[in-house]
Amino acid sequence: MTDSSSTGRSAGVSTAGMRRILPPDVVERGRAPFDPPPGLRGGGPVRPLDLLNGARAWLVTGFEEARTVLSDARFSADKLRHHDATSPRPPQAPVAEREDGAFVFMDPPEHTRLRRALTGQFTVRRMRQLEARVREIAVEHIEAMRAAGTRADLVPAFALPLPSLVICELLGVDYADRAEFQERTAVGLSASSTPQEQIAARAELHAFMRRLVSAKRSDPADDLLSGLVHDADPPLTDAQLVDMALLLLTAGHETTANMLGLGTFALLEHPGQLAALRAEPGLIDGAVEELLRFLSIIQLGVSRVATEPVTLGGVDLPAGATVVIATPEVNRDPRHWPDPDVLDVRRARTPHLAFGHGVHQCLGQQLARIELRIGLGELLSRLPGLRLAVPAGQVPVRDEMLVFGVRSLPVTW
Ligand code: HEM
Repeated sequence: MTDSSSTGRSAGVSTAGMRRILPPDVVERGRAPFDPPPGLRGGGPVRPLDLLNGARAWLVTGFEEARTVLSDARFSADKLRHHDATSPRPPQAPVAEREDGAFVFMDPPEHTRLRRALTGQFTVRRMRQLEARVREIAVEHIEAMRAAGTRADLVPAFALPLPSLVICELLGVDYADRAEFQERTAVGLSASSTPQEQIAARAELHAFMRRLVSAKRSDPADDLLSGLVHDADPPLTDAQLVDMALLLLTAGHETTANMLGLGTFALLEHPGQLAALRAEPGLIDGAVEELLRFLSIIQLGVSRVATEPVTLGGVDLPAGATVVIATPEVNRDPRHWPDPDVLDVRRARTPHLAFGHGVHQCLGQQLARIELRIGLGELLSRLPGLRLAVPAGQVPVRDEMLVFGVRSLPVTW
């Protein structure tokens, strides 16, 4: 889900590395952008996957098998200590220095302490305050689109800035610094930036976060980062705080932005579902869950390494095996959902794995749901004539990235 190369080092399938490491048939979507790549479909729930770097990994496409991997301590998320075959780092390379606060790549008990410090800051009061700001930000951007005409690219006009500004709120970034922050995050996470531009933008983001942490140390405010700086017990180091702030950014920005863009595209391409949602806005919570399941934007980015031999779904995995969770296919497991390839906003709710499972289950899921519910809800109510401005086949998708989505979404209303 996250790409640790954001902070200069890498573990697991990096954003740029998908096509270099994974065979095209498990990455490319072809003509059906909302369905899992053809190479993920069919076959058993656990099967070997030969990588382009010559290594072998195992692909998990079954729901129960994926849940087992994500909740069983014999599978490690520590991709620096246990070599992950999907990592661009060769196995013989010296183990990179650990990122101090990137706890998504740690196992308990190290992971537990850092995660707990952060969950302590996601309070009900803070989520309520954020909810009100999410609505203000969403409305402001939609009204700006309306004021500018009857056509826009929804990605830069709405889907990218909304989660970026929400993270500014969370971290307490001053208004004066927000334009710089948004510019850096847009370049750092954009599919169209060159690798050099991404590296430079990410180094600048790192420096930005260092300045922010030091400002919160000397001058705390009522934001999550100030709370993390001053309340964590035992206290966190500056290096840990910077990594945790960057983790929130990389984990929370690109994911939510792509769910907003791709989610809107999917609704526009399923007019019956769109009409149901417009007629009954109360369906929005269920619609968000169904879009999360149906689109499963984290493609093959969640992986683990077996620390000992394990039998999974009847397949014997050796110690050291890299196991890649094929979330788009896991969330269409016919043993778990009837008609899994159908988008149905009225579907009875059952747990999906779009936010992962187990100790690393998405820490920002409550916030992500708020952003999606309000973002999609306001779009539909304020732009009742919203439709694509180009044929669906011309909407450019980004399937080479860790997070699936649309590069742009030309719409009119
Ligand atoms: C629709 C949007 C989102 C999706 C689909 C998503 C998905 C995920 C997934 C699948 C994981 C588990 C990764 C693993 O097991 O290796 C994860 C972890 C995480 N997410 Fe999210 N996420 C979203 C939004 C957010 C937001 C808004 C934030 C915070 C601002 C956030 C913060 C995190 C963090 C900190 C982790 C690491 C948790 C840990 O390792 O204990 N995410 N997310």
